Amino acid sequence: MEQSAGKFGNCVLVNARVATMFGSAAPYGLIENGAVIIEAGRVVWVGNKSELPEGAAKLPAHDLDGRLVTPALIDCHTHIVYGGNRAREFEMRLEGASYEDISKAGGGIVSTVKATRAASEEALLAAALPRVDRLIAEGVGTIEIKSGYGLDVEIEMRMLRVARRIGEVRPINVKATFLGAHALPAEFSGKADAYIDMVCNEALPKAAAKGLVDAVDAFCEGIAFSPEQVARVFKTAAVLGLPVKIHAEQLSNLGGTAMAAGFSALSADHLEYLDEDGVRAMAAANTVAVILPGAFYVLRETKLPPVDLFREHNVPVALATDSNPGSSPVTSLLLILNMACTLFRMTPEEALAGVTCNAAAALGLQGSHGEIAPGKIANLAVWDIEHPAELSYNIGLNPLHMRIWQGEVA
Ligand code: NIG
Ligand code: FE
Repeated sequence: MEQSAGKFGNCVLVNARVATMFGSAAPYGLIENGAVIIEAGRVVWVGNKSELPEGAAKLPAHDLDGRLVTPALIDCHTHIVYGGNRAREFEMRLEGASYEDISKAGGGIVSTVKATRAASEEALLAAALPRVDRLIAEGVGTIEIKSGYGLDVEIEMRMLRVARRIGEVRPINVKATFLGAHALPAEFSGKADAYIDMVCNEALPKAAAKGLVDAVDAFCEGIAFSPEQVARVFKTAAVLGLPVKIHAEQLSNLGGTAMAAGFSALSADHLEYLDEDGVRAMAAANTVAVILPGAFYVLRETKLPPVDLFREHNVPVALATDSNPGSSPVTSLLLILNMACTLFRMTPEEALAGVTCNAAAALGLQGSHGEIAPGKIANLAVWDIEHPAELSYNIGLNPLHMRIWQGEVA
């Protein structure tokens, strides 16, 4: 990045190709010879340079030398705060064990729970920051971070505090999601309903009362919780006024997505085993499909998420790293763009929408983020590329030139 960090102030960006991801009939909402006016940390005007409003001449101009500008990227599904790692399980899977075998043998999520419980708040923060920094270096301006490796009142809150602190010590917006119903901790073995009671009566209300929760998620799966158990968590969320999301239909079809749509879920995530009825339920509830090619790739899944059905029923599709130590040890959202195109046959335009406008919607941020449009927060990424498809096409190349976050170079 050639520009040093600091205040940009009110200014006009000129000589840019702007992929607004909004409005226009052109693919990517692309404006050639574009200009963007930023005031008080927000975009106030975007369009062709020849149509700049008169007052723009008084603003300092920054020439972007024809570079491509997109909205800053949004990683709308991560578990980036955790203790330890699961490299040994990676070896076990290569020796033939499945994700479910490992989970049943006390590995998987529960082994990360042990390591996370043993880690201090400082240690969790120190471990997460290098991963977050990798995302920021790729132009990410907003990240969702889930709890779910504490599985008790105190450690769930510790994880959420770390998520909040990441947003304080780094130039990134953080949305913190409570995922207490992620797995059954050993001390509740055979007593899943009693664990859900604890989540509903104690862990979630306490975390919400401390202001640590922006949304509530749950893992609905044979190795986790049933739709009925998750519905109890969602009823508690509704009482607390919190939006919900769900991990569902990842390894089997239990109907969790349709149940979550009944709670107007912001998103349903994974979705490889989702059927058309589930897609219809999402369409009716405006629930975003968050599909996660990193987990699909790492677990060597073969069942593809129903991308054609999402298109047919106009369900918006978002993409995310799912950054976590087990199913997706990924800290590159650009790699996810490539995987979505190569593995899921999405177009590069759909992939970019998946990490900008549709990712914003998956977090309830569609009013303020994910597009370059008047009134939106000035979170932008400036790339050393000519065409937006290059973001999906390249593997292992990071062409970020500059990130603008809340109107500042950061
Ligand atoms: O999104 N599916 C459940 N949760 C995570 C995996 C977490 C883990 O394996 O530690 C996921 O893939
Ligand atoms: Fe996940």
